Amino acid sequence: MAALLVPSLVLIGVHASIEDPSISPTPPMGFNDWSRFECAINQTLFVETTDAMLSRGFLAAGYNRINIDDCWPAHERLPNGSLTWNETLFPNGLPWLANYVHSKGFHFGIYEDAGNATCGGYPGTLGHEQLDAETFENWGIDYLKLDGCNVFPSTEQRYQDIYGEWHQVLTALQHPLIFSESAPAYFAGTRNNTAWYEVMDWVPLYGELARHSTDIAVYDYYGNDSAKYWDSVMTNYGFEVLLARYQQPGYYNDPDFIIPDWPWLTLDEHKSHFALWASFSAPLIISAWVPGLADDVVEFLTNTDIIAIDQDALTLQATLVSSDENFDVLTKNLANGDRLLTVLNKGDNTNTTSVTAARIGLVGDGPYTAKDLWTGESSAFTSEMKTTLSTHATGIYRISGVNATIPTGMIFNTANKRCMTAHQNAHVTFTQCDASDAQVWLVSAQGGISPLSAPSMCLAQSSGGVALGSCSGSSATWTYHVTGNLINNASGQCLQERNQHAKAATCGVELDQQVFALPSGVDVIRGNVV
Ligand SMILES: *[C@@H]1O[C@H](CO)[C@@H](O)[C@H](O)[C@H]1NC(C)=O
Ligand SMILES: *[C@@H]1O[C@H](CO)[C@@H](O)[C@H](O)[C@H]1NC(C)=O
Ligand SMILES: *[C@@H]1O[C@H](CO)[C@@H](O)[C@H](O)[C@H]1NC(C)=O
Ligand SMILES: *[C@@H]1O[C@H](CO)[C@@H](O)[C@H](O)[C@H]1NC(C)=O
Ligand SMILES: *[C@@H]1O[C@H](CO)[C@@H](O)[C@H](O)[C@H]1NC(C)=O
Ligand SMILES: *[C@@H]1O[C@H](CO)[C@@H](O)[C@H](O)[C@H]1NC(C)=O
Ligand SMILES: *[C@@H]1O[C@H](CO)[C@@H](O)[C@H](O)[C@H]1NC(C)=O
Ligand SMILES: *[C@@H]1O[C@H](CO)[C@@H](O)[C@H](O)[C@H]1NC(C)=O
Ligand SMILES: *[C@@H]1O[C@H](CO)[C@@H](O)[C@H](O)[C@H]1NC(C)=O
Repeated sequence: MAALLVPSLVLIGVHASIEDPSISPTPPMGFNDWSRFECAINQTLFVETTDAMLSRGFLAAGYNRINIDDCWPAHERLPNGSLTWNETLFPNGLPWLANYVHSKGFHFGIYEDAGNATCGGYPGTLGHEQLDAETFENWGIDYLKLDGCNVFPSTEQRYQDIYGEWHQVLTALQHPLIFSESAPAYFAGTRNNTAWYEVMDWVPLYGELARHSTDIAVYDYYGNDSAKYWDSVMTNYGFEVLLARYQQPGYYNDPDFIIPDWPWLTLDEHKSHFALWASFSAPLIISAWVPGLADDVVEFLTNTDIIAIDQDALTLQATLVSSDENFDVLTKNLANGDRLLTVLNKGDNTNTTSVTAARIGLVGDGPYTAKDLWTGESSAFTSEMKTTLSTHATGIYRISGVNATIPTGMIFNTANKRCMTAHQNAHVTFTQCDASDAQVWLVSAQGGISPLSAPSMCLAQSSGGVALGSCSGSSATWTYHVTGNLINNASGQCLQERNQHAKAATCGVELDQQVFALPSGVDVIRGNVV
């Protein structure tokens, strides 16, 4: 489930819906109106979008969902308590629209809110869960995005109660709806990450995807201040990389919509947004005026090789191999044994970087074949891949000829993003990420953790603390938990950052100093965390 390499995945206390990944075996793809149109929606918009999604090749490429966001309901429920649509905006009604969407080959999805009003002030679902679920089902809807505005009290427990109830209601339907949960977004970016991670612990048990953090900037939100739109993409990217341990077949972290017709982003920035989201196996939900999309935009959004990365059967979220002020390098395994290499140039200049085979976890001597998924061209390499990228561009390569891989990459504190760093004197610290070999770690199937700069040594706990040492013995093996804790086999204590030094201490509840991101492919223990 976690990776090809992992011989013994431990699963404790797993409930639906990750128990039933058939509800959504790969991340959803499609359209949503919100970021582009907010409340300026109507029947014509959805009809014309549906037609264009079909005629411009989106459905054939896998984008098979038309989802409606906030502002569709009438301001009041019907006298009998049922929700209804705004008849001015949707003169033929939502069942008619669902039928239209279906007739063109798409699924139809809807938006509501867990509280007593939607974010836009329309009736919420609180206290009406069963009735509203049946209404959606009757209308021909098979996907619900449930927002989290107007939930009182706004505690983690209250959100869990309501989303848990919705999970029960939705899975009891004859055809369980796909459930997109916005709950984590209401806890992201707070003073510490504890409550956010507590929400993240349960969303994979209740639904198929979760909007984990801030909304991507809506159209024209920052006027012509172009840099702010790219910052918005990078902000959501930055939240996503903290959460890879939660993703597994049937549940997907959702960093929000693709926004491919924002004139404030360059073509390279739009392509990066798409390639990064695909590398994460994130939902690919387009918010745009689809009939008006430029041909070159349609072309990259329907790139079958990149969509195949997003929809890969392992649905792994690529993780960071390295990061410095200019380049982020990411990798993950693919179902057919290939490896993904994704390189983002965050810098302001065209720049060149090299990524060695060892850094992306390739075991063996090569040669390997790298297919550039933008151009379709393949090239051979043995020891390293060199790539030159314009500012804010992303290179994305499918590496084949791979015999075996080992989970390899950064280990970082998810609260402050400092990288675990090996030193020649065997000390281990947390410092600014610099993409050196001292910050690239290999994680063995037995739980040994070695830096690429000293691969024969392991992260080990001794009476003096945590440092590099011999790889033998249980004090040099660790288990990784979905809570983000790295637990020492000998002591049962958690790795902890204290004053930028690696230490071990009694495990707390998802404490900022004890939650780490590890490379994809590491065996994640999913304990009974709820
Ligand atoms: C429908 O919504 C679109 C997008 O906001 C808008 O351009 C169009 O004028 C609207 N059409 C009607 C008939 O209101
Ligand atoms: C329907 O939407 C229109 C346009 O936004 C609004 O003026 C009207 O009040 C809405 N009607 C109802 C019944 O909510
Ligand atoms: C309420 O009335 C609407 C419109 O007639 C109908 O579609 C819906 O099924 C009714 N709801 C209930 C709970 O009877
Ligand atoms: C929502 O619930 C809260 C708390 O129960 C209440 O104060 C508020 O008036 C409610 N709002 C609406 C629109 O019903
Ligand atoms: C984390 O933040 C919450 C709420 O802001 C607070 O109650 C809690 O004490 C904080 N935890 C730590 C370990 O500081
Ligand atoms: C942004 O620039 C365009 C083109 O120069 C201009 O038409 C538009 O009014 C500007 N918008 C804002 C909010 O400044
Ligand atoms: C290219 O990136 C490297 C690594 O971040 C950096 O050291 C170098 O200064 C960059 N060159 C340019 C021209 O920005
Ligand atoms: C994979 O293994 C075969 C047979 O041992 C060897 O010839 C080839 O070079 C290896 N490939 C890589 C990429 O290590
Ligand atoms: C470490 O602990 C895990 C979980 O208890 C266990 O599965 C694994 O075999 C242990 N590894 C070693 C090397 O003792």
